[in-house]
Amino acid sequence: MSTETATSSEGHGAPEIKKGLAGVVVDTTAVSKVNPETNSLLYRGYPVQELAKACSFEDVAHLLLVGELPDETQRAAFEADERSQRALDREVRAVIDATPVSAHPMDVVRTAVSVIGSLDPSAHSIEDADTAAQSVRVLAKLPAVVAYDQRRRRGEDLVEPDESLDYAANFLHMTFGEVPDDVVVDAFRVSLVLYAEHSFNASTFTARVVTSTLSDLYSAVTAAVGALKGPLHGGANEAVMQTFGEIGTPDNVGAWLEDALASKKKIMGFGHRVYKNGDSRVPTMKVALDELVEHTGRHDLLEMYDGLETAMTSGKNIKPNLDYPSGPAYHLMGFDTQTFTPLFVAARVPGWCAHVREQLASNALIRPLSEYVGPDERHVPGA
Ligand code: COA
Repeated sequence: MSTETATSSEGHGAPEIKKGLAGVVVDTTAVSKVNPETNSLLYRGYPVQELAKACSFEDVAHLLLVGELPDETQRAAFEADERSQRALDREVRAVIDATPVSAHPMDVVRTAVSVIGSLDPSAHSIEDADTAAQSVRVLAKLPAVVAYDQRRRRGEDLVEPDESLDYAANFLHMTFGEVPDDVVVDAFRVSLVLYAEHSFNASTFTARVVTSTLSDLYSAVTAAVGALKGPLHGGANEAVMQTFGEIGTPDNVGAWLEDALASKKKIMGFGHRVYKNGDSRVPTMKVALDELVEHTGRHDLLEMYDGLETAMTSGKNIKPNLDYPSGPAYHLMGFDTQTFTPLFVAARVPGWCAHVREQLASNALIRPLSEYVGPDERHVPGA
């Protein structure tokens, strides 16, 4: 029996279909562990809350990509490598400039990753040393893309990277032309760490599927960007701010939610495929959001945030996911709403690349089966 005939249920009874692969364990991974029962998330064994408290984004990227937190020598080498590759390549800038500002910034990021790959002479190699170098290259180059794209949409000039700054501070410097107060830099760092990895989510699985064909890392990351763009995945952090815009004022939360639920709308920033009792990353991001609210005095935003969370929890028992606090946090940092998902891309690169490398180390082509429900065999007239 060929593999394809196994897709037919005839004679075998209908196969059980797990729509959306919900609950299906498709492979092992040593990169991260999501445990919805204990509401915990471990990156290579370390609780994400501890990493968010004590580590730079670069250390977390090293942990995900290499398997261990760096010692001092490894940290110095990793940081030097990252800092030396931050500048926006002329060719990448030209492609960004050629993209209309009517295009979504995620379209720009998706295109930019492709161009970054096309400029790398090792792009087609899937040797371990090359994919390690490619991972740091994408990591280092994305902030310039995201920052420059936001700036050009505001009619502002490119800001060159500053090698004396760490990843988070330099990202903000390149976006805003200055390094903001520590509370902002730290909230940004925390968001990057929390977004860095989350097991077999849709974009990571996309990257693994592409990798399983023995395609290259840049193709896998480009495809992952496309998957992350969707509002059911990364696009939700933008949608949260759109929701707040629609609600308008905190006293309108109840009426807005009633209407939205009556018309069967999904409330963005709530619910999760794996966590059914609260997203493990939310409390840490909420602390960062609270600090930003104190810093900016935007208590109105927090009132709306709390109001919607309370109404969703009591009315539907659906809890917020990480996009719920990160959306308003990015807003208070000064990012444009359309830039939020590109920020998620930059943060998720270490996770994607770690999975690409893990897939390559023990590869099997990912090719599931389907149950055919189309017309029975029929024939073309005259054939
Ligand atoms: N708003 C309103 N209802 C929601 C909801 C939300 N955000 N999330 C789930 N539900 C409801 C569904 O309507 C469904 O109700 P029903 O059984 O009465 O039809 C039930 O909860 C199960 O939802 P379902 O969509 O089947 O769960 P899922 O595991 O496939 O979905 C998400 C997970 C993330 C796709 C979903 O929660 C969602 O769309 N959330 C909003 C987008 C978002 O924030 N994405 C970021 C995820 S990190």
